Amino acid sequence: MASLRQVAEDATAVLLLLLLLAGLRVLPPSTAAAAAADGGGVLRMKHSSGGGYSYNSTLAHILVEYASAVYTSDLTSLFTWTCPRCKGHTKGFEVIEIIVDVENCLQAFVGVAPDPHSVIVAFRGTQQHSVANWIEDLFWKQLDVTYPGMPDAMVHHGFYTAYYNTTLRHEILKSVQWTRKTYGTLPINVVGHSMGGALATFCALDLSVKFGSQEVQLMTFGQPRIGNPAFASYFSEKVPRTIRVTHQNDIVPHLPPYFPYLGEWTYHHFPREVWLYETIDGNVVTRNETVCDDSGEDMNCSRSVYGTSIADHLEYYGVTLHADSRGTCQFVIGATNSAYSNIHEVDGAIILSRYPQEPHTLEYM
Ligand SMILES: *[C@@H]1O[C@H](CO)[C@@H](O)[C@H](O)[C@H]1NC(C)=O
Ligand SMILES: *[C@@H]1O[C@H](CO)[C@@H](O)[C@H](O)[C@H]1NC(C)=O
Ligand SMILES: *[C@@H]1O[C@H](CO)[C@@H](O)[C@H](O)[C@H]1NC(C)=O
Ligand SMILES: *[C@@H]1O[C@H](CO)[C@@H](O)[C@H](O)[C@H]1NC(C)=O
Repeated sequence: MASLRQVAEDATAVLLLLLLLAGLRVLPPSTAAAAAADGGGVLRMKHSSGGGYSYNSTLAHILVEYASAVYTSDLTSLFTWTCPRCKGHTKGFEVIEIIVDVENCLQAFVGVAPDPHSVIVAFRGTQQHSVANWIEDLFWKQLDVTYPGMPDAMVHHGFYTAYYNTTLRHEILKSVQWTRKTYGTLPINVVGHSMGGALATFCALDLSVKFGSQEVQLMTFGQPRIGNPAFASYFSEKVPRTIRVTHQNDIVPHLPPYFPYLGEWTYHHFPREVWLYETIDGNVVTRNETVCDDSGEDMNCSRSVYGTSIADHLEYYGVTLHADSRGTCQFVIGATNSAYSNIHEVDGAIILSRYPQEPHTLEYM
């Protein structure tokens, strides 16, 4: 009996491995899969996506630094913008609020940037498990929540609740509102890497609905797919000023897999992808940036290669995008510092902010 069970377990393991490999190769380059593609899976845009919004490489080089800085676990140096990653193009940035959802291991900040003169909202990617574990889990994510008000639009429960059912959403909306009241009605740039890109997506959608589509721009780096074709279509209508950057063989944009023949029952990216890749010819490295089509699943972009690399996931535009302390959900707050006038704990989240909070919140220190 024992050996039979062993055989069965081995067989299951092999099957899982094969499925996983199939997932890693999500839609190989130039195959029939794509050509045949897209009976049901293709995006049906009501009007041309983007509304003339185009990729700005200079802007991307700036915004990626915010997506990197939000990984900083020393909250004091992050708040005062003196952390090692708080340099370069982001000089002069003023943090308004940092939110650390300790229970769910999420981190985000809101602040005001001199260039582009705007409100920046940045989300950290996953830190709780090793990145490899998180990526493995991605393969199995189900489309299991209907996006409110959009009967056909399905998304993944975990991504959805990480934004909508945590302290993040409430704090970010409040902070953005306060900032725009205090600093003037600035446009809003929402950024995030990896899982943070998924959170940034829901946030940009939320802010667009609240403040208007023309007020909000989204740029994500190495984000996974988060919803079905109907969600992608709805999203790009609401947040036309969106750039989704992918890098070379980064595995994450290939997950969860896209199966064209599954119609609305598959994940589907929204546009517009910009695919970064390097070509090495002898000693010469050429960095290329391809602006992809408005389908969301352009065959000539990241889908033209295998999603095989974690290293490519952790670096965009030469900037490192991962936690400074690996594998744990940590944060550090230095001695009480007058820079943040308020530190609070709300529903298991630590909040550092520059403006007074509501009276019911507890003083943390
Ligand atoms: C691109 O972004 C940079 C940085 O915000 C800005 O200075 C520049 O004017 C933008 N270029 C275009 C063509 O919009
Ligand atoms: C939201 O979070 C609360 C408490 O954390 C939980 O009880 C509830 O089931 C969650 N809702 C969803 C839709 O996940
Ligand atoms: C860079 O990309 C452009 C547009 O996709 C292409 O025309 C050009 O040949 C590429 N350059 C290299 C070095 O790959
Ligand atoms: C994109 O790929 C298709 C084949 O999948 C090819 O026919 C077409 O020329 C490519 N377009 C560009 C701009 O490379």
